[in-house]
Amino acid sequence: MTALGDLDRVRISQLHAAELARFRQGRPLTLAMVERARTHMPNGMPMAWMTSDNDQPVYVDHGDGAGFTDIDGFTYLDFNVSDMAMFCGHANPAIVAAVQAQVARSTQFLLPTRASVEVAEELARRYPVPLWQFTLSATQANTEVIRLARVVTGREVIVLFQGHYHGHFEEGLVDVTDGQAGPVQRGLSKGVTGRVRIAQFNDPATLRAALEPGDVALVLTEPAMTNYIHLLMPGPGWHEALRDLTRRYGTLLGIDETHTHVVGPGGATTLWNLEPDMVTIGKAVAGGLPMGAYGVTASLGDHLDAARNVATGGTLFGNPLSAAAAKAALTGVLVPGAYAHASTLGGELADGIEEAIGAAGLPWTVIRLGPRSGQWYGPMPRTGAQAHALTDGPLTALIRIWLANRGIWEALPGAGPTVPIPATRADVARYVEAYHDLLAHLG
Ligand SMILES: Cc1ncc(COP(=O)(O)O)c(C=O)c1O
Repeated sequence: MTALGDLDRVRISQLHAAELARFRQGRPLTLAMVERARTHMPNGMPMAWMTSDNDQPVYVDHGDGAGFTDIDGFTYLDFNVSDMAMFCGHANPAIVAAVQAQVARSTQFLLPTRASVEVAEELARRYPVPLWQFTLSATQANTEVIRLARVVTGREVIVLFQGHYHGHFEEGLVDVTDGQAGPVQRGLSKGVTGRVRIAQFNDPATLRAALEPGDVALVLTEPAMTNYIHLLMPGPGWHEALRDLTRRYGTLLGIDETHTHVVGPGGATTLWNLEPDMVTIGKAVAGGLPMGAYGVTASLGDHLDAARNVATGGTLFGNPLSAAAAKAALTGVLVPGAYAHASTLGGELADGIEEAIGAAGLPWTVIRLGPRSGQWYGPMPRTGAQAHALTDGPLTALIRIWLANRGIWEALPGAGPTVPIPATRADVARYVEAYHDLLAHLG
């Protein structure tokens, strides 16, 4: 069921068709580029994701601050922040300068520079784990902590929560599908389902059941779940239960801060005093340049001694360009005042969304998490299963294209809307006005 039973489905589909036609009509260069691109790229895109998340492929000319401009010259405020990767803003001057300086000094040595050390030091200051390693993406950081957890515990199984997304590694693509755990995409190895157990976020009973066999190496979770199921906040006592149960069953706890670290220095882990064994991060940590990182406790760090030969690493991991960008992002952009600014505006965005929902008389719930907001199409869910029942593809597609026609890019529901650091109060007001207008058409 969806909480949209009262909404006129025909109206949603008509509005969507009209908005999509309007979007296409004004963008001849975009449409021509799709045709050209399809000759050498399936879907006309570098990867299928870029197609599945937007009804109309868009090609970008450049970005600047809180927005970007497409090849037809249309500018969008970027409330998708590239699925959180561009929280620092586009072409942020501090990051541009650092990257330019490093490019001129070379981009790869298969040896570290000072910046790698400084970034590890800064991450250790922010998060309650002292030892850090680098990758090129959050997917790879999660892949490595899973391997480390298997080595340390001698166990095989990973527990994830329904509705999770941690990247496109094998175990990360197992979730509940057709009522049971299985691959949610094609092309995975047949045995992968047996290496993953799915529990429900906010539900200690399902977690205990998953841990009870005593074969679980790692529980990997976001502190508040984002992505496919939108945003699930931890209920009272959830994190305490999670930590308590994982300790009781000898299972390691990994917290994935890839999306949630926008809530403040040290992410939700530090904000909520969590005690993970491992922390993973990516995306905005290097201002949108390719970089992922994972931090571990001192005792887990011993197992990363090169002589122990844990399967980690890649040629470009820890490269100087990513390190320079991360140093600039962490020391010059992702600073306490910037987080506070984005969170204040995130609160204003949430207030505006809530008002619009109220004015339209819809039974929806507003989302509030620092710079991030959005809506549930019904009462606030507690678990991934409840959240899944509230998703609504056609309505989400309408919101996106409606906003895009009004100069606002929202794209993935998993990311937001999220207020980027360079955004202003006027930018938030523009979002709210367009959103309000849409809901008035729906209510
Ligand atoms: C929480 C979380 N972890 C990991 C990832 C994987 O990040 P990447 O695609 O940059 O490897 C994502 C991507 O959306 C994510 O949301």
